[in-house]
Amino acid sequence: MAKSPKNSSGRGQRDLKVKVKTARGRKLSSTLWLQRQLNDPYVKRAQADGYRGRAAYKILELDDKFRFLVPGARVVDLGCAPGGWCQVAAKRVNALGEKQGKAIGTILGIDLQEVDPIAGCEIHQLDFMEDDADDKVKEWLGGKADVVMSDMAASASGHKQTDHLRIMALCEAAAYLAFDVLEEGGTFVAKVLAGGAEGSLQQILKQRFTKVAHVKPPASRSDSSEKFVVATGFRG
Ligand SMILES: C[S@@+](CC[C@H](N)C(=O)[O-])C[C@H]1O[C@@H](n2cnc3c(N)ncnc32)[C@H](O)[C@@H]1O
Repeated sequence: MAKSPKNSSGRGQRDLKVKVKTARGRKLSSTLWLQRQLNDPYVKRAQADGYRGRAAYKILELDDKFRFLVPGARVVDLGCAPGGWCQVAAKRVNALGEKQGKAIGTILGIDLQEVDPIAGCEIHQLDFMEDDADDKVKEWLGGKADVVMSDMAASASGHKQTDHLRIMALCEAAAYLAFDVLEEGGTFVAKVLAGGAEGSLQQILKQRFTKVAHVKPPASRSDSSEKFVVATGFRG
């Protein structure tokens, strides 16, 4: 008899609330993905809270810890589709001026994919790895930023080391934009995958920021090697 697959908490399938039957034409990996979605408390919470995805809770939890999304902050959100991070940032930086008497912030979102409009955010469709992408972002930004955050991730190839190198290239590109546009004291947040190459980026970040931390927020799935680098206190 085949062993039952483990879920992200390491328990057997028997503990899951919703079981999904395999269907003709659906791959086992898709069935397991669907099952995980249906049993994920963050997916349910995102639907109830009106967020476009569970990723919203990752930036909420990171900001609860490091407090960089303050009213009036100018934020660049790289890899912003479908828009959960933008939704969180727009509220916290007071992009719509809802917090009376507080400074009004701005959000500039960038993604390869088209993003449905989000109140208080300026969003552009762009491949951030294009040669002149940096210049375009700087032109749209029109000045300095207080926060550069990146949740960019290329589609998984299934090859662990390739995926790691791809995400690190995206993360490094985001860091170099941050070096150009951040205001002194600013914050850089980016998704990385554990796998070796993140050490060299950390060395560079340590020279440019007063504090560099690697964090895995509770909303990041425990079976994923994803974590986030949070660099605060840009030295300019
Ligand atoms: C995990 S999703 C981001 C989720 C987003 N933070 C949210 O809360 O909705 C990763 C995104 O990175 C984007 N991405 C990957 N490579 C990119 C690139 N070269 N330029 C711009 N966006 C990219 C993908 O299109 C995808 O939408």
